[in-house]
Amino acid sequence: MSDESGRCIAVGVTGASGALYAVRTIAALLSIGCRVELVASDFGRRLLRDELGEFGAIEHLPEYLVNRYGKDVQSGTLKVHSNRDVGASIASGSYACDGMVIVPCSMKTLAGVANGLSRTLIERGADVMLKERRPLIIVPRETPMSLIQLRNLVTSAEAGALVMPAMPAFYQGPKTLDDLADFMAGKILAALGFSHQLYPSWEG
Ligand SMILES: Cc1cc2nc3c(=O)[nH]c(=O)nc-3n(C[C@H](O)[C@H](O)[C@H](O)COP(=O)(O)O)c2cc1C
Repeated sequence: MSDESGRCIAVGVTGASGALYAVRTIAALLSIGCRVELVASDFGRRLLRDELGEFGAIEHLPEYLVNRYGKDVQSGTLKVHSNRDVGASIASGSYACDGMVIVPCSMKTLAGVANGLSRTLIERGADVMLKERRPLIIVPRETPMSLIQLRNLVTSAEAGALVMPAMPAFYQGPKTLDDLADFMAGKILAALGFSHQLYPSWEG
């Protein structure tokens, strides 16, 4: 368990493919004792249903995570926000939220973040991270990408975001989709400064 447990991490889930990356990341953060502030867009909620099978409303996510990843996820706390609630805690820089990851991040939400639009809680939360100089990780999933999308990634990176494309490596010899999701979740946790055992480190 990381000695940095107890930190607050906001997680945005949008309508790009890759729901497994989202739930694996949320479960891993909870398992090390984080307070997770979760916001899913409408298409993010649809994504969770479509790609993970029916688990009912997002409010039932805790039971899903326990069933899939075990009781360790109960080490942390999960709070679910509406993406329309731009007055929620994580919309303010005065709220003690240590970092944010948008996983997966759609090209639409990326455009909103890159242009500082703050139309939704996910966009506003990301805007807060950038203005407060706190970690913001963007996990885009799209292929191929247009010049507009590439520019939005560059703009976000220039503003301080860490762009971490949903591109799991294969040198670890993944056997299952869960292995691929473990790799991405591990990269996200490492970027947020947490130690983890989601994949073995490369020993040369
Ligand atoms: C089945 C399906 C798959 C999609 N996959 C992607 C994707 O991989 N990347 C992406 O940027 N958008 C994808 N989209 C489009 C987004 O869901 C759409 O732009 C949506 O408006 C994003 O809104 P949000 O960012 O508020 O979630 C997909 C849409 C559907 C219905």
